[in-house]
Amino acid sequence: MALQNINPTGTEAWKALRNHFEQMQHTQMQDLFAADANRAEKLHIKWQDFLVDYSKNIVTEETLLLLQNLAKEVDLQGAKDAYFAGEAINRTEGRAVLHTALRAPESAVVTVDGENVMPEVYAVKNKIKGFTEEIISGAKTGYTGKPFTDVVNIGIGGSDLGPDMVVQALKFYKNQLNVRFISNVDGDHVMESLKGLNPETTLFVVVSKTFTTQETLSNAETVREWFLKSATQQDVAKHFVAVSTNIQKVTEFGIDPANVFPMWDWVGGRFSLWSAVGLSIALAVGFDNFDALLKGANEMDEHFRAAQPEQNLPVILALLSVWYNNFFGAESEALIPYTQYLQKLAPYLQQGTMESNGKSVGRDGNPVNYQTGTIIWGEPGTNSQHAFFQLIHQGTKLIPTDFIGFMEPLHGNKDHHDKLMSNFFAQTEALLNGKPEGTVKAEFDKAGVTGETAEYLTPFKVFRGNKPTNTFLIKKLTPQTLGSLVALYEHKIFVQGVIWNIFSYDQWGVELGKQLANSILGEINSGEVKNHDSSTTFLVNAYLKK
Ligand code: F6P
Repeated sequence: MALQNINPTGTEAWKALRNHFEQMQHTQMQDLFAADANRAEKLHIKWQDFLVDYSKNIVTEETLLLLQNLAKEVDLQGAKDAYFAGEAINRTEGRAVLHTALRAPESAVVTVDGENVMPEVYAVKNKIKGFTEEIISGAKTGYTGKPFTDVVNIGIGGSDLGPDMVVQALKFYKNQLNVRFISNVDGDHVMESLKGLNPETTLFVVVSKTFTTQETLSNAETVREWFLKSATQQDVAKHFVAVSTNIQKVTEFGIDPANVFPMWDWVGGRFSLWSAVGLSIALAVGFDNFDALLKGANEMDEHFRAAQPEQNLPVILALLSVWYNNFFGAESEALIPYTQYLQKLAPYLQQGTMESNGKSVGRDGNPVNYQTGTIIWGEPGTNSQHAFFQLIHQGTKLIPTDFIGFMEPLHGNKDHHDKLMSNFFAQTEALLNGKPEGTVKAEFDKAGVTGETAEYLTPFKVFRGNKPTNTFLIKKLTPQTLGSLVALYEHKIFVQGVIWNIFSYDQWGVELGKQLANSILGEINSGEVKNHDSSTTFLVNAYLKK
C-alpha cells in the first residue's frame, strides 16, 4: 500500500486547528500552569530511561486532541504500517524505507519484494563483528605486522554525519583506536586530517552508498596516494575497506571485494548509521556497544509502533512541531543537549530533518500550499547560553527548543553535573515564565537604582517568556539510550512527512548543484567559461585569473 495523498489543509482537523489557533495565539503558558497544578503530571511521558516533559508548550488538552485528529485524518496509522512493512514508501525512487530492519531482532521477518531481508542483515552484522574484533584485538595487522592504532572514515552526508556523531557521543565507551573523519572535498581538510598518522597502522574505511560521490572518491584517491608513498599497491588490500551498495565501483577503485561491507537500497543515507555505515562506530566502541545502540533504537521502534498516539513520543513531538511550524509560523527549532558528548547531534539531525522534509511538492506532484520542513540548529548547553540564547529569550522569533539532559554524568563529577543541570532546568523555567516588569522594578529598587535610570532600563530587562520547550531527562548517556534518542527523532521526521503529504526519503534537491559543479570543473580545467549568468561567468573568470 502506497502512502495516501491527503492535503492536510483540507482536513476537518486542520480547519478546527486554525480556529483554535485564533484563541491560542495569545495564550500565556504561565496562565495554563496557574490554572492547573497538575499540568506537568499530565503532560509528560515516562518511557524506559526517558522522562519527556512537554508541559511547557502553548497547548491545551483541546490542542492535543485536535492535533491527534489531524494524525488520524492523514492516516498516520496506515502510513506507519506501510513503513514497517517494507512498502515502497519512497515512491519517487521506488524504494522501501527500512532502517528499522537493521536493528530488528534476528527472528523478525521483514520482506522487501517478497524476500525476507533479515538473514542478509545478520550476515553483514556478523561480518562487522568478526572484522572489528580482529582489528581491535590486534589479530589483524597492517602491512608491516603492527596492530592498527587509527581509523579514518572517508564519506560525506549520511556516510559521515551519523558515524561521526555517534563516535563523538560514545567517546566515554571508546577503546584504544583513534577514529577520524574526512568528509569535505576541501584538500586542506584532507591534509590536516592525515597529519600525524602512520600509514603502517592506519585503517581507511571508505563509505559511500552509491560509490559515485565526488567528495568521497576524490578524498579516497588522495588518501590512497598518500598511503602509497610508504606502501605498495598490494598493501592497499590490508588497509582499505569499503561500505557500499555498488560492489562494481568499489572493485574498480581497487578495493578487494572481500573487504566490502554491503548495504542496501532500502537504507537511506541519512538513516544508515545502523548498517555497515556504522563500521567506524563498531571499531571505536566495540561490537557489543554498537549492538546496544541498535537495541536501543529497536526499542524505540517498538514504542513508536505500538504505543497509543497520546503516549507516543515521536507522535507527540512531531505534532507539537507541526503546531508551531504551521500555525504559529515558527521557522526553526533548536536542539540543546546538556552534554558535550552530543556536540554533533544537531548537525546530524540537520541532514535527517532538512534533507527529508525540505520539500515543496506534495505527494500529488503539486506545489504545497503550506509550510513544510523545519530548520534545525543547536549546540550544547551551557556554551549555547553564552552564544545565541539571547535571541531565544528576547528576540522577535518563536523558536521551540528541545532540551536534552542526563540524570548522571559519566565521569561521576557530581559538582559539575549539578551546575550543568541547574542551568538546564533554569533555562526552560526562564523561557516559560520570563521576567515581568514588576520583578525588574523590584530588583532595581533593591539595588538602589531609581528614577529615570530605572525607568529607562526596565523594558530592556523584561523577559516576556512564553517560549515553548520540551525537556528530555534521560537516565544516562549509554549506547542504548543514544540509539533510542536518535530513533525517536527519525520517527518524528517520518510523522511530520506523513502530515505534510510529502516524500521524506528522496533528496532530489541536492542534485542540481552537483551537476553544475561538474560542468564548472570541466570549464575550470579547460579555461573556457560559457553559458552561465553574468555573475557566475564573472566570478569563475576571476578565479581563473587568480
Ligand atoms: O548529497 C546528498 C547525499 O546523496 C546524501 O543523501 C547522502 O547521505 C550523501 O549524499 C552521500 O552519499 P553516498 O553515501 O552515496 O556517498
